[in-house]
Formats: sequence, C-alpha cells, structure tokens
Amino acid sequence: MTAAATVSTLNDAVLSAALTGLNVKGQKSLPPWLFYDDLGSALFEQITALPEYYLTRTERAIFAEHAHEIVSALGSDITLAELGAGSAAKTGILLRAASAAQPNVLYQPIDISASALDEAAASIAEHIPGVAIIPQVANYITERYTITRPAHYKVMALYIGSSIGNFSPTEAISILCNLRHHLAPGDALLLGVDLAPGRHKSVDTLLAAYDDAAGTTAAFNQNILTRLNRELAADFDLSRFAHRARWNARDSRIEMHLESLADQTVHIAGKRIAFTPGETIHTENSHKFTTRALKTLLTNARFTPTRTFTDANHTFAVTLATAT
Ligand code: TRP
Repeated sequence: MTAAATVSTLNDAVLSAALTGLNVKGQKSLPPWLFYDDLGSALFEQITALPEYYLTRTERAIFAEHAHEIVSALGSDITLAELGAGSAAKTGILLRAASAAQPNVLYQPIDISASALDEAAASIAEHIPGVAIIPQVANYITERYTITRPAHYKVMALYIGSSIGNFSPTEAISILCNLRHHLAPGDALLLGVDLAPGRHKSVDTLLAAYDDAAGTTAAFNQNILTRLNRELAADFDLSRFAHRARWNARDSRIEMHLESLADQTVHIAGKRIAFTPGETIHTENSHKFTTRALKTLLTNARFTPTRTFTDANHTFAVTLATAT
C-alpha cells in the first residue's frame, strides 16, 4: 500500500467513526482509538506518570516483584506479543527478566501509533540489547494482526494497563477471543486490569485518576476534538467543551465525557452537529473489575486463569491465564 493510500484509509476510518458516533439522536460518543494520534499517545504517556494515576506505577511494581515468576511460568522459551504496546515502558521489566532466563527473546509489540512503536523499539534496543523486535502498526480492534511463533517457543500475549477496561464487555470478549485464535493451547495471556472500588480504594481515588489537578487528562480528552478539526476539517471550539469524569456504579466504570458548555453547532465534513448546553460526547469508559468478573471474562474467551498477582492494597490485578 502506498503512503497516500494509507492516509486516506485512515481518514475514512476517522470520518466514519466520527459520523457514526456524533450524527445521532441520543448519546453522542467517539471510539477510544481516536485518542491515539501522535500527540494523544504522548499525552497518554504523561498521564501514566501523574501522581493521581496510580494504575501504571502499581502495575509496574507488580511486574517488578513477580517478573521472574511470570516469564518462567510457561516452562519454556517464550516470545512476548503485546496488544496496544505504546512506549512499552513497563514491558521492559518482563523483557529483561525473559532475557536473563533464556537465550533469545523476541518481542512483538502491536500498536496503532507508529511513533509510539518507534520509541519503544529505540528504547529497548538501547536498554535491553539482545531482544529482537517485530513491531506492527495495527488497530487491533478493526484490523488484522499477526503473531509469530519461533519453533519450540510458547507465546505469552500481554494485554496490560487495564486497556481491556476501555471496551464494552462484549467488545472485551471479542478482543480476547480474537487474540485466543492467534494462540495455541499452552500459550498464555498476561492481563492487567484495574480493580473495582471497595474497602481499599474509594470512588474519589478513581475519579482523581481520571481528572488530575494538572489537567493532563483533560488535554488528552480534548485532543480528540483537535484531531477531528485537523483530519476532518471540523470546527470544534475547544474552549466550549469541558472534560468530565464520572463514576457509573451500575456498569462499574469510569466514564469520560466532553461536555458542551453552550448551545452550538459544529461542522464535520459538511454535516452539522448540534449540541445543547450540558450535552456530552462520551469518549471513554474504563471498566473496573471484580476478581469474579475477570474470571468470567477469561473463561468465556477460553483462557484459564492460573495465577493472579495484586498489590498490597488490592487496587490492581495482573492475571496469568493459559490458553485452553
Ligand atoms: N486503560 C487505562 C485506563 O483505563 C488507560 C487509559 C485509557 C486512560 N484511556 C484513558 C487513562 C483516558 C486516562 C484517560 O485507565
């Protein structure tokens, strides 16, 4: 495919996603993959370092504590394949542990952002030499991807950072079923999810993680409108859409919205989209899992959970599950 063809396919996907989500009677919405253009991916990296955003550092600490056990759990040489790898900062911990335990490590990061993958590859080449990398630019929701298996290796698929939580329960099962089709019995999935609020974690802690004092999450959320302005020549006025984070207890999820602060009309590719004051665009869900919900999800996608690692406060879970 030529570069020009790639660009126009991308814009078609962006245009159809925007109109499908916004040109509707009821709740307007945009799909979360639209966040991850170059700036969005960079802003997301900043979110992961925010004091309020406990998820990344908690997951990283779990990896640091259990890396050896995780990479040796399959009892053979492994190749690590990662959905939504981003900058792969946390994955470095597992890659290091794998390269200490076996002679050749192959890492297969899959991500929608080419720039994030470039950074990941450069940083791994610099800090963990000896790891071979096959990066793949793909939207793992809408596009095909491949996973390579060297002879006598098992695949450990990584889906971490609670990315699975950004999808509806139905989509989550289909992502895992699709991944399961790339795997053979005896391969494994390492799934990282944020846990539901409870004794150790309040709803306020959750809300703060998605509405930080520095405004980085707000910038990340609004960047989706900047992207539509740029790629679809839309005319969103960013000062008239405010970032909102809400807890939806019924569906056990944090929701991110962009709330219209005025009566206004936005133009996208010749279509007029009207907003009333207070009306929102629902841009993101971040589902929070009970251990029970997690187990059901894995089992439905033909994985058997074998070990779950959590932090002392039970805020985040990393589950190793074998493909059955
Ligand atoms: N999957 C993570 C989460 O749900 C990261 C993430 C995705 C995120 N979209 C986000 C974090 C939007 C903050 C805002 O938390």
